[in-house]
Amino acid sequence: MKSIRVTLPGHRHEILVEPGLTGLIPKLLKDRGLSDSVFVVTSPRIQKLYHQALTGAWPGDMPPPVFLQVPEGESSKSLEMASRLYTRLIRQGADRSAVVVALGGGVIGDLAGFVAATYLRGIRFVQVPTTLLAQIDSSIGGKVGINHELGKNLIGAFHQPSLVLSDPSLLLTLAEREWHSGLFEAVKYGIISSSRLFAFIESRLEAIRHREMDAITRLIVECAAIKARVISKDEKESGLRMILNFGHTVGHALEAACGYGKLRHGEAVGWGMLFAIEYSERKGLTSSRAARRMRELICALGLPRLPRLRSDEILASMEQDKKRRGRVLRLVVPSRIGRVSVVEAEDRESIRAALRGSGIVR
Ligand SMILES: NC(=O)c1ccc[n+]([C@@H]2O[C@H](COP(=O)([O-])OP(=O)(O)OC[C@H]3O[C@@H](n4cnc5c(N)ncnc54)[C@H](O)[C@@H]3O)[C@@H](O)[C@H]2O)c1
Ligand SMILES: [Zn+2]
Repeated sequence: MKSIRVTLPGHRHEILVEPGLTGLIPKLLKDRGLSDSVFVVTSPRIQKLYHQALTGAWPGDMPPPVFLQVPEGESSKSLEMASRLYTRLIRQGADRSAVVVALGGGVIGDLAGFVAATYLRGIRFVQVPTTLLAQIDSSIGGKVGINHELGKNLIGAFHQPSLVLSDPSLLLTLAEREWHSGLFEAVKYGIISSSRLFAFIESRLEAIRHREMDAITRLIVECAAIKARVISKDEKESGLRMILNFGHTVGHALEAACGYGKLRHGEAVGWGMLFAIEYSERKGLTSSRAARRMRELICALGLPRLPRLRSDEILASMEQDKKRRGRVLRLVVPSRIGRVSVVEAEDRESIRAALRGSGIVR
């Protein structure tokens, strides 16, 4: 079993990755003193798929887990849903020893984590991510939260999980589009931090596409280790953590411009990375050869076509990005494969040119 350590000031936990790990969850919780009263937050679909795998070997001397269901979909990341979960926890008598287990994708992880962060001023929680995006990204880093009707992820907290348990075999039931969407984030990690990971994805692309267990396990371990390393150095997003935002400034703008739900998050990031590569190449910050290699891998994953968009609309949205400081737009751009830098984009014309050059604006 692969173990990745996350070490933060005053907090440390492990990320365990292993195909078939789900059956061992009761024991892993017990060994770490996380088994007194377990509340599993999940969706009906995931409970149906994995209830047996999770509870089949639940020992008789451990109180059985209580399942709390929320409907799948982004709209569950709401104050209303959080409130319903608080009510269930209170009615079930959950006290400070209770442990919330988030069994699901990023939606469940963010919501259940937010509830755990706020219930009784914070109880422990464990992430059991079931999508590729959640295994390599959202379950790591302690950012939890819900949406507000005026914007995504506006209400939240930093609350680190006590443990992250990633079972790559759960990803076999993921819809094709979800799988591919997560792969763009995996390519992101290669570009921002590891030429070795990038080359691995290039060389094993077919195996990864077909979800061969060896290949995807290595992929998850490497990506999770990069995210763990970055957040261990910069928990609250003051500097280094910004590199994780590669592809996201334009990505978020595209999600907003296309209407949330039309474009998967990872797909938007795929387009956003193409923009950043184009911008970097035009400014002479990366070589044409590196740019070509990066583009080829991103395109090989199959990006969906975008509707007709105007660059003004995308620019306006980029300028509203909550990570912006003052009037200056900061972009994360690749300098070579495995290394990115943060540049300040003052002239809007270069951005427009890169939006056209990358095919986002026709
Ligand atoms: N906290 C963070 O740092 C962070 C980082 C990135 C994204 N996010 C958040 O993550 C969310 C997106 O997460 P996501 O992409 O995992 O989407 P998701 O949680 O909506 O899951 C996608 C779909 O896959 C289904 N599903 C999940 N696991 C499955 C499985 N094993 N088999 C079959 N179907 C399965 C879900 O029911 C859902 O329909 C967004 O809300 C985003 O804001 C958070
Ligand atoms: Zn992302």
